[in-house]
Amino acid sequence: MICKYVFGHPMDTHAVVMEVSESKQELTLMQAEVKEDAIRLSCRMEDEDVVFGLGEQVRGMNKRGFSYISNATDDPHHTENKHSLYGVHNFLILNRAKKSEEEHKAQSFGIFVDDPGTVIFDVGETRMDELAITAGKDCVVYVVEGECLKDIVKQFRKLIGTSYIAPKWAFGYQQSRWSYMTEDEVREVVDGHHQNGIPLDAVYLDIDYMERYKDFTVNQETFPDFKNFTEEMKERGVHLVPIIDAGVKIEEGYQVYEEGVQKNYFCKDEDGEDFVAAVWPGKVHFPDVLNAEARAWFGGKYRFLMEQGIDGFWNDMNEPAIFYSEKNLKKVLEELDEMKGKNLDLYEFFHMRDLVSGLSNSAVDYQSFYHNMDGVKVRHDKVHNLYGFNMTRAAAEAFDQIAPDRRTLLFSRSSYIGMHRYGGIWTGDNNAWWSQLLLSIQQMPSLNMCGILYTGSDIGGFGSDTTEDLMMRWLEFALFTPLMRNHAAMGTRRQEVYRFERLESFRNIIRMRYGLLPYIYSEYMKAVLKDEMYFRPLAFDYPEDEQAYRVEDQLLVGESIMIAPVYVQNAKGRYVYLPEDMLMVSMRSLDDRTCKVLPKGHHYIDVAIDEVVLFVRKGYMLPLAVLDVKVRSTGDVSEEQLQWIGYTDDVAEYVLYSDDGLSRNYTPQSEWKKIRMTKEELL
Ligand code: NOJ
Repeated sequence: MICKYVFGHPMDTHAVVMEVSESKQELTLMQAEVKEDAIRLSCRMEDEDVVFGLGEQVRGMNKRGFSYISNATDDPHHTENKHSLYGVHNFLILNRAKKSEEEHKAQSFGIFVDDPGTVIFDVGETRMDELAITAGKDCVVYVVEGECLKDIVKQFRKLIGTSYIAPKWAFGYQQSRWSYMTEDEVREVVDGHHQNGIPLDAVYLDIDYMERYKDFTVNQETFPDFKNFTEEMKERGVHLVPIIDAGVKIEEGYQVYEEGVQKNYFCKDEDGEDFVAAVWPGKVHFPDVLNAEARAWFGGKYRFLMEQGIDGFWNDMNEPAIFYSEKNLKKVLEELDEMKGKNLDLYEFFHMRDLVSGLSNSAVDYQSFYHNMDGVKVRHDKVHNLYGFNMTRAAAEAFDQIAPDRRTLLFSRSSYIGMHRYGGIWTGDNNAWWSQLLLSIQQMPSLNMCGILYTGSDIGGFGSDTTEDLMMRWLEFALFTPLMRNHAAMGTRRQEVYRFERLESFRNIIRMRYGLLPYIYSEYMKAVLKDEMYFRPLAFDYPEDEQAYRVEDQLLVGESIMIAPVYVQNAKGRYVYLPEDMLMVSMRSLDDRTCKVLPKGHHYIDVAIDEVVLFVRKGYMLPLAVLDVKVRSTGDVSEEQLQWIGYTDDVAEYVLYSDDGLSRNYTPQSEWKKIRMTKEELL
């Protein structure tokens, strides 16, 4: 059951697709206080209650003990003191350990606060026993009640609509770096993989493929024959995925800029002039993607690259990130000028430092530009969290026109609830730290709750130099994430896997991804088509098991398996909790596997550095593709011949979904194949 409560005069954020009429009953599960400029919702939490959700935010799967602020932020340090990251996902579930006798006083529920401005979720930080949500005075609150955690998520997902489906090639291994500078450098990376027997489906083009960071241009010197080059790469099974940035360079003669100015499609400042900020190219304007006409115009620009054979994009810097605004910079430079020649004491020095660092992504700037939403002038900070969503929507809506019959890969850095219908996300600029691997594991199910299924983190870590063991452990986890992309920042150690010593182990792990592809793709599609989660915390499938609620570092992946990744340096294994008897499968390669049944309970398991371990649930099975040594990309993986790993006392069943991986008609009956096997037939 979903109840809708409307406060003030909210705008339509496009987060929700299902019609729900306003509830006539009072909100009883939380106490609502309506203040002059905010609403506050609160309720008590018992010690054993657990809170799941909030999408991309830092900290554990159980979000208790911290405050999370919905404010899309470009912050490359995802440490546990951070209240905001790039994406804004205002949905959580309060799972009550005990139902109260009094009906409707204390039962589990999900809550979605549809407010595109700043919302604060104080999940027991101020008071350990209180959940308090503070939103703007104009918002819609949806309260979702259901039979269990899975049911609450399913209802919420129906409310917000079906998740985006990526082309099948985007489930292969992908390599990125800021930046591969030339055609030849990209060729070298592809050769590096192929010559070493490592499959590869995509190489990313970061900002330097453009001509001086201008969206929808290609640098003619470094990529002189882009169309042919894209074709050449495709023939080798590799898709090129260029980046698109939110800011449009201000430069006379640059068509995108000229058109945007002429048609009034850029965000405006207080005086009605095009707002000037600065990002990679220096000064830019932001396309007003919250305006329907401007959105259609900006989306149409992707055609330029699609006509050259491009079929995948990543949208970046769309919080939108601002290095500085013209106005703010002027003020700061003036102040700095006054400091010249002065003997700066402690506080003056700190002030100077803050002046400069405070230039980027400043609240003052976000309050100083405007959108034209259906003729209404709206100040940016009121709708800040919708910008990345609408940039991605612009692209996806354009793809419907430009390439209506096939899927295009699309994912974004910033997002809001509802964007999952248009594309996926990646989790932004993490670091090559072991703690960030754990964070990535914990972010996945929270994102899935919000419909974001096509997702993954920068494998190996984006910032800082990675190490070979971190890269290997990260891949052992990421081989289960729908987006499996190795990406790193400029200036960091090169981390293409063929550059490391233990090449054979890397090859084996990446080949495992291709072996598991029929399962990963099938489970992804089931999660999309049934509004379910691909990654789940244990509590979702074992709700009666109190210990399952405490597990923060294991995940159910699809219907058949559980994973328990190793995320500690130098660990030779780890503790695992099994909520039921399971079959532990340890793999050093697709052909080098050992299986062992472990009983329900706590175990210490050995996991060598180059080993992937997964657990098959009782009564379930999973397919493994048999790979040729020459497999180079997803296109070479055949489902004709599958091996089956399973665990049952008598029979197990699996429904395999398959399709051409490219067209958009997803559900013909013939593509669901039910497979039944007896204990004896299973491996
Ligand atoms: C920030 C993005 O998060 C990162 O992935 C990218 O490499 C840089 N921008 C440069 O484009």
